[in-house]
Amino acid sequence: FSNFLTDTFNRQHDYLRISVTERCNLRCVYCMPEEGVPLSSPSHLLTSPEIHYLSSLFVSQGVTKIRLTGGEPTVRRDIVSLMRSIGSLRSKGLKQLALTTNGISLHRKLDDMVEAGLTGVNLSLDTLDPFQFQIMTRRKGFDAVMKSIERILEMNKLGADIKLKINCVVMRGLNEREILPFVEMGREKDVEVRFIEYMPFDGNKWSKGKMLSYQEMLDIIRTKHPGLQMIRGHKNDTSKTYRVPGFVGKVGFITSMTHNFCGTCNRLRITSDGNLKVCLFGNAEVSLRDLLRKNNDGEPIDEEAFEAMKQIEMDRHQGLLGDETVLGWGERERELLDVIG
Ligand code: GTP
Ligand code: 5AD
Ligand code: SF4
Repeated sequence: FSNFLTDTFNRQHDYLRISVTERCNLRCVYCMPEEGVPLSSPSHLLTSPEIHYLSSLFVSQGVTKIRLTGGEPTVRRDIVSLMRSIGSLRSKGLKQLALTTNGISLHRKLDDMVEAGLTGVNLSLDTLDPFQFQIMTRRKGFDAVMKSIERILEMNKLGADIKLKINCVVMRGLNEREILPFVEMGREKDVEVRFIEYMPFDGNKWSKGKMLSYQEMLDIIRTKHPGLQMIRGHKNDTSKTYRVPGFVGKVGFITSMTHNFCGTCNRLRITSDGNLKVCLFGNAEVSLRDLLRKNNDGEPIDEEAFEAMKQIEMDRHQGLLGDETVLGWGERERELLDVIG
């Protein structure tokens, strides 16, 4: 089964996203309702040994990058030791271990995480104004997030090499005024600020009017920085990357609504309850958890699982939408929360 991570389009799936919790300590308006999301019963969630086992399995199959997501991954109590155990796979071929986080409690755990093998942080921050932060996340915590950012930059100055990206979901009427101040961050800080087109989920009251498109964001930035230039990103990036001449940092755009990037997608995903998915849009899923627990005798995942995975690889294009838009994600809110949170 050595090539089960290469699909019919000859894409090597070398990037695995693992959701380590459904829980979150914020309630971002574009993501969750005030009351949060319904949680699975704990016994349905992957345990840390299971996550470690699956990580090592995928690394043995050619995965070189693992990103831990949520919910908010730092609310998982054993996140640092989990990271340490996944970080140990460096000797087996893992090259990057990244985290997508809201940064609220990151500053407390960052040093240990870096020591455990963390190489990159994608941090969600939609505003540079503490009051607006409270409106957009329905919680307090702006200072804590800034502290996390500062600590990353400080560690990098001291010799660490933590790749920092800031994810900023842009919503008309809420934070579009902050696009330019966010770009300004890159004047002296080595950070890539990525503006994300607001996407619909059930319950987030999405409307087209609240979404700012990639083109509109570019227009806003060009009013102040006409020299904004597109630069080559990495092959499988979901974002388009730009630079402002003279700035240290970069600017990126995640254009999920207006430009679909499935053609270069190399991601695999494991949801917090242990389902493997290859495509956000396809329905194919296989429960790795059930396969792992099937024999209940410590028997590792077997041929049957590899067959199932290969099958969903083949199915991955079924759910593909046209290349203009991915509207219609609304029905998939739970799946999406697992994937992107
Ligand atoms: P890197 O490329 O490793 O920096 O990660 P990333 O950008 O994929 O991860 P991150 O967790 O920071 O997610 C940022 C945004 O990417 C999310 O808000 C989603 O909008 C989007 N995203 C992530 N994966 C997918 C995907 O498979 N399809 C689509 N359409 N959007 C995705
Ligand atoms: N539209 C766009 N991006 C979203 N995210 C969460 N919900 C949405 C949405 N409705 C983003 C978060 C986080 C990333 C993983 O997903 O801001 O940075
Ligand atoms: Fe939590 Fe991230 Fe969703 Fe905000 S976007 S509520 S930080 S999971």
